[in-house]
Amino acid sequence: MNLRYLGHSAVQLVGDAVELVIDPFVSGQAEPVVSLEELAPDLIVLSHAHGDHWGDTEELARANDATVVSSAEIAGHAGALGLASHAMNTGGARDFGGCKIKFTPAFHSSSFPDGSYGGMPMGVVIEIDGLRCYHAGDTALFSDMRLIGRGGLDVALLPIGDNFTMGPEDALEAVELLQPKLVVPIHYNTFPVIEQDGEAFARQVRERTSADCRPLRPGEGLSL
Ligand code: NI
Ligand code: MN
Repeated sequence: MNLRYLGHSAVQLVGDAVELVIDPFVSGQAEPVVSLEELAPDLIVLSHAHGDHWGDTEELARANDATVVSSAEIAGHAGALGLASHAMNTGGARDFGGCKIKFTPAFHSSSFPDGSYGGMPMGVVIEIDGLRCYHAGDTALFSDMRLIGRGGLDVALLPIGDNFTMGPEDALEAVELLQPKLVVPIHYNTFPVIEQDGEAFARQVRERTSADCRPLRPGEGLSL
């Protein structure tokens, strides 16, 4: 499975049988690292409705006949735009063929840019090619992360930007609860208010937990 960080919270997962993009806020970044034409998702997974996560969902879904997988509210919004969608909610899992998706709680808010209700914010565990990958979405630290880590996590994508989500200190505690093999920090350095030192966070993770940590530059990927 190839994981590529597209900047902010946007992540591309390419498995043997399926390609997913999570929270595809790409073209709205100050320096987008990929053009939308480089992405060919079968599934677009959304953690919540905020504009810095919904991002390029509409254009990407139309160009690829991709299915938007998210909360009932976000899937409904996608459906009203004429996009293929599949509604789920926290705690529910479904096998999509080539990957299994389970949504988890997240402590945040969720509204569309026009202010309309976007359902509950969520995180997501994706099983793909025998690997378990957790994308926390936007969230505060919460102790039930321990439950999300049960069964083992090969990679955890955790926000460290602070201000809107966990900062580095709380993300470090999240690593202790989740016990993943690898941590990839997300949701930082996109805007001045969420500037963080990813390498300093990675050193802390390596010193204080049993996990490895790989801060990826936007556009950079890794094979798992
Ligand atoms: Ni948000
Ligand atoms: Mn956000």
